[in-house]
Amino acid sequence: MLLTACHTDMYNQAKLQTYEPSTFFADGRASRPVVAGAVAVGQDEVDTFLNTGKVDGQLVDEMPFPVTADLLARGQQQFTIYCSPCHGVAGLGQSAVAERGAIVPANFHQQRLRDVPVSHFFDIITNGVYRGDPNNGGYQSMFSYASRIKVEDRWAIAAYIRALQLSQNATVDDVPLDMRDQLGQ
Ligand code: HEC
Repeated sequence: MLLTACHTDMYNQAKLQTYEPSTFFADGRASRPVVAGAVAVGQDEVDTFLNTGKVDGQLVDEMPFPVTADLLARGQQQFTIYCSPCHGVAGLGQSAVAERGAIVPANFHQQRLRDVPVSHFFDIITNGVYRGDPNNGGYQSMFSYASRIKVEDRWAIAAYIRALQLSQNATVDDVPLDMRDQLGQ
């Protein structure tokens, strides 16, 4: 009995609903505008090369910051966590998921993906992959990782995929001259 009474009391308290008018504030609105200068979560993702991988709407073969050994190590770590379960640690598209699931994760060592600009990988991680128009019978065949992997780490993974591709497709010409004698040829 006591609790019921308590509930009704709380339930019926005076309050203003969303968009309801109010005489309390000078502008007559109950809902208050966003405080000047406030930044909502995700709102800083403005349309820059860093955030889109694009310059003038085009994907380009450039990184927004230098590729260092540390960056590649971070990329490898993030790739192993988020991508290798489907694409495999070497990016061959062979994995437990590929074996048992009904999906075919891309092999990164195919010519088409060797030829794409590095920001293509950033774009795929950010937006996922769609087969056809999702509003017209199409479907999303790879998830977007935008909410799970932060922008810098998406670039680190993109750079690491390039390193993976090189690991399977390099020639002696890719080795600096002064290091070729270490190849033991
Ligand atoms: C749950 C499984 C899964 C995970 C995890 C996954 N992918 Fe994929 N990915 C796929 C599938 C499936 C495709 C093929 C999509 C298609 O061709 O329709 C694909 C395709 C791709 C492609 C090829 C896109 C193209 O141009 O055709 C790239 C690049 C890629 N993934 C990168 C990544 C990266 C980087 C990660 C980690 C951040 C990742 N994927 C995580 C399943 C996955």
